[in-house]
Amino acid sequence: MTNLNRRNWLKSSMTLTAGLMTMGYAGAENGRDVASAKAFPKKDRYARLTSNENPFGPSASAKKALKAALDDAFLYPREYRQTLVELIAKEEEVSEDHILLGAGSSELLHAAARVYGGANGKVLSADPTYTSLVRSAEMLGAEWVKVPLDKNFDHDLSTMEHQVKPDISLVYLVNPNNPTGKIMTGEEIIGFCDTVSSKVPVFVDEAYWDYMENPKGSTTTACIKKGANVIVARTFSKVHAFAGLRVGYCIAQPEVIKMLAKEGPRNTLSGPSMSAATASLVDHEFIKYSVKMNNEGKKFVYDVLEKTGHDYFPSHTNFILFPIAMDYSDFRKKMLDRGVGIKSMNVAGQDYCRVSMGKMEDLEMFADVFQKVIGTSINKS
Ligand SMILES: Cc1ncc(COP(=O)(O)O)c(C=O)c1O
Repeated sequence: MTNLNRRNWLKSSMTLTAGLMTMGYAGAENGRDVASAKAFPKKDRYARLTSNENPFGPSASAKKALKAALDDAFLYPREYRQTLVELIAKEEEVSEDHILLGAGSSELLHAAARVYGGANGKVLSADPTYTSLVRSAEMLGAEWVKVPLDKNFDHDLSTMEHQVKPDISLVYLVNPNNPTGKIMTGEEIIGFCDTVSSKVPVFVDEAYWDYMENPKGSTTTACIKKGANVIVARTFSKVHAFAGLRVGYCIAQPEVIKMLAKEGPRNTLSGPSMSAATASLVDHEFIKYSVKMNNEGKKFVYDVLEKTGHDYFPSHTNFILFPIAMDYSDFRKKMLDRGVGIKSMNVAGQDYCRVSMGKMEDLEMFADVFQKVIGTSINKS
């Protein structure tokens, strides 16, 4: 900045500050409207079915807690952190030193990549799966050892177990899996973790855990309680509808929590977000409601797929994967051109669409546009 520019800039910013001071609080409110309008340019009709969010929340209790905590926003949020950690520890029946919070579970996946995925690291996972951790590890110089899903798109656990050689630094499992929406049962995954974690740490990403029929019987926290080297990651971004609030946590042995904390999150969560998470975690009615609305959405989409002659993978999550008879990128573009965002991909020569659940009006739009794009229409009579 030249001196002249700097003088002009100082002058205009002083004028602006004086203006804001005279405008007082109302001016700040106006400013916020402008900011949010910029952040979300609203299209007339856009069904956002790309990112596995939950459009039915956050819950009223979470929003109330969020707003109440704004009055404390000038404080470093130690107390909010402590309250949330205590609650998670109580719910999971572990001591507090087994818990680490992150700004979304992404932050914890990246921390694990830094701990286990350095230059000599080798991270073993299924393929396809959620790739955030393995991609971070690759960027740090680690190798990603992929074990393809089997022909039914299930984890091939016996091949994975065979691949656990001494040079593997971490095994990463996603249950339920993204993008398939399929699960390993509690018995399968707990058996695998009990055996494999004596050789190498196992990271289990349980982002969609709450959508399972039997979450408590399917979580691998059971292994952690037995002392196994298993790390479980959870997020508030899915059933709790906090994707924009950014709260996640992991549960692991205290010495592992220390390593992850050193490499990762250091007081990155806000007080209001943690306060809202504390309220949401025990709002069982809201969780039930979210799961119910999600199931209704899935039923509607299954029906559309059946009536248009498509197979699909029955899903244990808030998205559905199904094969399409069209190039995946053409399909995505054609859907988007008509206002529907979805994900699409090619796996082993077959094209697929992954559609997230949304409000019924968005799913109806999906159904309508989908029929136009594939050139088939459902006979409504
Ligand atoms: C399997 C899985 N893990 C983790 C995440 C990251 O979620 P967040 O960082 O919002 O907690 C996602 C997001 O879609 C996911 O699908």
